Amino acid sequence: SIVDPRLRTGYHFQPPKNWINDPNAPMYYKGWYHFFYQYNPKGAVWGNIVWAHSVSRDLINWVALETAIEPSIPSDQYGCWSGSATILPDGTPVIMYTGIDRPNINYQVQNIAYPRNKSDPLLREWVKPAHNPIIVPEGGINATQFRDPTTAWRDDDDGRWRLLIGSVAAGGARGVAYVYRSRDFRRWARVRRPLHSAATGMWECPDFYPVERDGRRVGLETSVSGRRVKHVLKNSLDLRRYDYYTVGAYDRRAERYVPDDPAGDERRLRYDYGNFYASKTFYDPAKRRRILWGWANESDTAAADVAKGWAGIQAIPRTVWLDPSGKQLLQWPIEEVEALRGKSVTVKHRVIKPGQHVEVIGLQTAQADVEVSFEVSSLAGAEPLDPALAGDAQRLCGARGAAVEGGVGPFGLWVLASADMQERTAVFFRVFKAAGKDKPVVLMCTDPTKSSLNPNLYKPTFAGFVDTDISNGKISLRSLIDRSVVESFGAGGKTCILSRVYPSLSIGNNARLYVFNNGKADVRVSRLTAWQMKKPLMNGA
Ligand code: FRU
Repeated sequence: SIVDPRLRTGYHFQPPKNWINDPNAPMYYKGWYHFFYQYNPKGAVWGNIVWAHSVSRDLINWVALETAIEPSIPSDQYGCWSGSATILPDGTPVIMYTGIDRPNINYQVQNIAYPRNKSDPLLREWVKPAHNPIIVPEGGINATQFRDPTTAWRDDDDGRWRLLIGSVAAGGARGVAYVYRSRDFRRWARVRRPLHSAATGMWECPDFYPVERDGRRVGLETSVSGRRVKHVLKNSLDLRRYDYYTVGAYDRRAERYVPDDPAGDERRLRYDYGNFYASKTFYDPAKRRRILWGWANESDTAAADVAKGWAGIQAIPRTVWLDPSGKQLLQWPIEEVEALRGKSVTVKHRVIKPGQHVEVIGLQTAQADVEVSFEVSSLAGAEPLDPALAGDAQRLCGARGAAVEGGVGPFGLWVLASADMQERTAVFFRVFKAAGKDKPVVLMCTDPTKSSLNPNLYKPTFAGFVDTDISNGKISLRSLIDRSVVESFGAGGKTCILSRVYPSLSIGNNARLYVFNNGKADVRVSRLTAWQMKKPLMNGA
């Protein structure tokens, strides 16, 4: 194989082999977390899609169960695509998913499935009632772009359920989230006007949920509404392969959603500025939090995927809540991941001079959790921000990568680095002075261009701006490193970047970790702790 088996991730969700994509119907039921996902039982490329099923007590250790949903009725015989779970008021979970009902053309309908035995906490068997499909494309809807039903929410005033289905209109130009309503979860009628739409192309995997307005970390059940909440609408843009969201107001009477920032409509904020797609949240009643799952594809060639026999992982589940500013979400790895922390090393009050780097020694860092607080000595030397790049973090990072010396930064981590530094993945910040802005502009970037000597890889730089006040010089970074994935959280989860990398040298015990500073101002590491990560139970692999 061209891919070293030691690059297989250990604590990120994965089945033992084959292709995976979207997270489906995550839920908590009778003490167990359930996770379903798009799966090809026959190989490491997309196809033959069924719903695989795993369960966990802690979202970290996973046990694989038998396939939950596979083609078996006329309305799903050519594929069981993405969908969501809703917990009914009597505690019964239902799954709604997209079925492909004819060959060759991806004609899409929506189906429903119920657990055969509600007293089985593992929900091993799912039954599809005879009245499937329950929603079909009608009234001018594009039948080949009509999929991925959300979790339903219920309005107490009229007792009716609502859910969204992703679609596209205006000849492919406008992404659309259609609302369907039902009293009995069986007969569904479309609301004429969509909940929302924007000029972005097809909306896959919509997600729509309430968040606490006052920035408390507590999550809300999907049906909660009222004065104390704002709503989040997320869509996966198939043209760009990114998950965009807005924060806004849900008008229940008009059945419409209005983003707070009209200019930001589906284009500005992303859950993750890296490799993270088709995500979905669920409310966890056990710990009163909302948890986000997202799929990270490989960025190696399809031939390499086939050779290694697997493709795709899930990001570490993240708790999501509204930033106190109300303008964006915050995300943080679920606290359970900390149970995997083993041996650790701490570095304190270490000044990194311009051009210097410092190795973090004394532990294995191919699989590590690293938390670091930086303090920049002075912001006076920050580079001016090129106005042509001011709105485009990704291009800015492409032009000013980790190797380009700056004023304040680039500073950050080199992860999965080789001893001779030929290979290294940089996760860093860079601070700019922007004309007409009093606050310095902070860029967070992952630069994998030197991550591997293997020439055939897709190695895009990923970047996002960090809406933080760095005037006191302080900023934090956390990176979860797991052999071929680096998942980073800037400024307490304001900006997140997941990147897949495939080192050829920095594998196993040869992977090293450094702090670097390639700017002109001193950077102090106030505190850095790196933990070696243990291996959880992972679906029997
Ligand atoms: C997103 C997606 C969904 C679809 C599923 C099929 O990655 O294209 O829209 O339901 O994958 O596997």
